[in-house]
Amino acid sequence: MVSRVIPVEAFDLVIFGGTGDLARRRIFPGLFRRFRAGQMPPNSRIVGAARRQLDRDGYRAFVTEALSEFVPESARPEDDVRTFLGCIEHLILDAASDSGWDALSGMLRDGVVRAFYFSVAPSLFGTLAERLRKHGCASPACRIVVEKPFGRDLESARELNRILRNHFDESQIYRIDHYLGKETVQNLMAVRFGNVLFEPLWHAQFVDHVQITVAESVGVDGRGSYYDKAGAMRDMIQNHLMQLLCLIAMEPPSRFDPDAVRDEKLKVIRAIERPAPRDIVRGRYVSAVPGESYLDQVENADSRTESFIALRLRISNWRWAGVPFYLRTGKRMAARHSEISIVFKTAPHSIFGQTLGQHRNVLAIRLQPNEGINLFVTIKEPGPGGMRLVDVPLDMTFAEALGRGVEDAPAAYERLIMDVIRGNQTLFMRGDEVEQAWAWTDPIIKDWRERDEHPDSYQVGTNGPEGAAALLHGDGRKWRDIDDTQDSA
Ligand code: BG6
Repeated sequence: MVSRVIPVEAFDLVIFGGTGDLARRRIFPGLFRRFRAGQMPPNSRIVGAARRQLDRDGYRAFVTEALSEFVPESARPEDDVRTFLGCIEHLILDAASDSGWDALSGMLRDGVVRAFYFSVAPSLFGTLAERLRKHGCASPACRIVVEKPFGRDLESARELNRILRNHFDESQIYRIDHYLGKETVQNLMAVRFGNVLFEPLWHAQFVDHVQITVAESVGVDGRGSYYDKAGAMRDMIQNHLMQLLCLIAMEPPSRFDPDAVRDEKLKVIRAIERPAPRDIVRGRYVSAVPGESYLDQVENADSRTESFIALRLRISNWRWAGVPFYLRTGKRMAARHSEISIVFKTAPHSIFGQTLGQHRNVLAIRLQPNEGINLFVTIKEPGPGGMRLVDVPLDMTFAEALGRGVEDAPAAYERLIMDVIRGNQTLFMRGDEVEQAWAWTDPIIKDWRERDEHPDSYQVGTNGPEGAAALLHGDGRKWRDIDDTQDSA
């Protein structure tokens, strides 16, 4: 199947933090792929704004290096790289002073989409917003793109929203949660609301429980100073996992449009009960190898920060009454594996007798790796020997089902940047959503602070501390295994 690419309008995209890690790893490689796919008009311009004293050639060399590092050679023909580089400019600019701003305003064109990507420390967001206005760079329809972390608690998120809204309308503010840009995450909505099969079963009467696992094999290496102040709760749960939970639990929006979708997500966040301490397991990785444990990788040897968290959550509304949502995420786990599983109830009566065991349907939505969806159904094991039941997957691995390599599908960042240019906010967090998520998170973190306990230890390369397994065992359930989820229910 050939994917249809609809070009966006020509744009001027200014990246503040243009020599930063995000620009290098994600933004430029992503834009280059969109350029090659024919989605980025060649009269578009990307301006990397940074303090680093580079001239245009020096900056283009920086971008070339980023492409060499993060785009496979087979996907970057020289001619394309050369034409892409022709769209790139550099501007020496200091976010914290007035220098460089008039040059920026002189560069911006009328008649094309104007977007500003804040890929800088959050402490600079307010200053950037203010200077964009002050120096006449902000046009009525321009957009600003704001990276996470969006605050570190409710108070700071509110303050940030207040500052940004002093200068820009909510409809111009694009708060990135890159999980919303993942292919499968959007497919979750397509599966739920594009089929008649699932929605009638999507509630407490038929769903036993839901699991969301985002397991990472990497540690905090190199990001220790940021991570130790955040922990898994602020880094992953408050945003990425919360967003996934919303998409599973929300009511069908009346339209696939930004406010209809975000209104429904907000209702879910408001309905999540605050978990009791017994519903929470915090962990931190340890290793016998010197330098590999979490505490070796952060400055504070007495840190209480968690690198793993498992939660049992309840959503108090009619649809989900009594259905636990189990969430877990952690670093240095057994594998990089992210999956959402809707585990259905067993059949109300087994005509095959108890000896054939209890079988369940599971809808497993794999985010990474091998994005795809598996629906486990119970069938008779083939062959003689009487009725034996097995659960087998109806497998829809996107790369296979759609006849193209996964590498052709736009990655999260490039899709989201194209949405910014299109002016579509559906996959971005609205200010009230972010605040509500912090309002839920804050008391939990406050409680941890007061208890002052160390997280439980887990060995690197495992599925987290024992308490995480016990959280489900106590309910007569078990986590779907991180390694074998592709083959069995
Ligand atoms: C980021 C977190 O938002 O998401 C990181 O700050 C985490 O700690 C990353 O590693 C995970 O993203 P992905 O797309 O690799 O699953």
